[in-house]
Amino acid sequence: MPKLNENYLNVQDSYLFAEIARRVSAYEELHPDKAGSIIRLGIGDVTRPLTKSAVEALHKAADEQAVPETFKGYGPEQGYAFVRKAVADYYRRNGVNVDPDSVFISDGAKSDTGNITELFAKDNVILVPDPVYPVYVDTNTMDGKQIIYMNGTEENNFLPMPDESVKADIIYLCSPNNPTGACYNTEQLRKWVEYALKNDAVILFDSAYEAFVSEPKLPRSIYAVEGAKKCAIEFCSLSKTAGFTGTRFSYTIVPEELVFSASDGRQMSLHDMWNRRQSTKFNGTPYIIQYAAAQVLTEEGMKECMENISYYMENARIIAETLKKKDIPFTGGVNSPYIWFKCPGGMESWELFDYLLENIQVVGTPGGGFGVNGKNYFRLTSFGTHEKTKEAMERFDRLF
Ligand SMILES: Cc1ncc(COP(=O)(O)O)c(C=O)c1O
Repeated sequence: MPKLNENYLNVQDSYLFAEIARRVSAYEELHPDKAGSIIRLGIGDVTRPLTKSAVEALHKAADEQAVPETFKGYGPEQGYAFVRKAVADYYRRNGVNVDPDSVFISDGAKSDTGNITELFAKDNVILVPDPVYPVYVDTNTMDGKQIIYMNGTEENNFLPMPDESVKADIIYLCSPNNPTGACYNTEQLRKWVEYALKNDAVILFDSAYEAFVSEPKLPRSIYAVEGAKKCAIEFCSLSKTAGFTGTRFSYTIVPEELVFSASDGRQMSLHDMWNRRQSTKFNGTPYIIQYAAAQVLTEEGMKECMENISYYMENARIIAETLKKKDIPFTGGVNSPYIWFKCPGGMESWELFDYLLENIQVVGTPGGGFGVNGKNYFRLTSFGTHEKTKEAMERFDRLF
């Protein structure tokens, strides 16, 4: 009989979205007349289609695969040089230098933030913010690793800062944040980098929403901070930037400077370890997708993506405007597609979920699903249409 990885017994059921779906179906069954008017502002998936130039690039690359002269089989596990360079060029245009050799192409920030745990031993002190994108917690739990939480609260604007009394080895940061929409400034990230360098820790920085940063002073990469290449790995993705949630393209930056001592004193490079891991367990993102991604990452390609992002951010503005009018405290919506607000009237998040569904047929995401600090908060997303977002917020306005 196989001995199973019993750490899986400690992973919570992926309860949040299943429970939302269950409650919505129960409501629809009970109120078939209202089913058609339900508006979903809980989704974390994009709704705008791929940009024109991305689609053209997909077609062109598909055509290349049709003839022997340009056909491509297995590619480099790290990604094609042309796309690794396209990522580095994209960073350079945003004022940050990264070495194309430190860029690893992958099929999702979810996969890479999950798989990176393999590089670290079990007995690390792992620091994770609460509320949090659940993947960081679940993947470490699957490995049997212990997690320490740092509180994201109204007092720190949902941006936990280093606590010198805690000696962490691995720190997860996500900025702009899912679910809170909060975004660290450079000074705050500098404090994290200083903490990591002082404590010989590694920061796992998830910048999946960097393209939504609208305030030019805010950092879109941890490498905007000096010294970060000695202590941080960065994960990013075209999922939300370019609507690639179904097309799948991401990249992880593991600088060569990330070298730590093994227990016998030998030096181990995280870059080399990740390279070994990817070469052994991953055969690369499809050529067609990499080709399209390289197009997306050009200046012109990104201009088209920004049109879709502006569309979503107009929704965020509509949501934020209503919350402001109602004096409901919130974060996000300016540098992020997410808006995180305090449940009115002291409600708990699932209570507000039912209240909104029952009274105005608007579905959001209860903050309690992202950690204990989300118990009295609620997440709305700007990934819907203008019409539906406007309608939802007009109903919200009438309700409170
Ligand atoms: C913070 C964060 N990181 C990573 C991801 C996953 O992105 P990908 O589609 O690249 O796997 C998401 C998706 O919702 C996310 O919210």
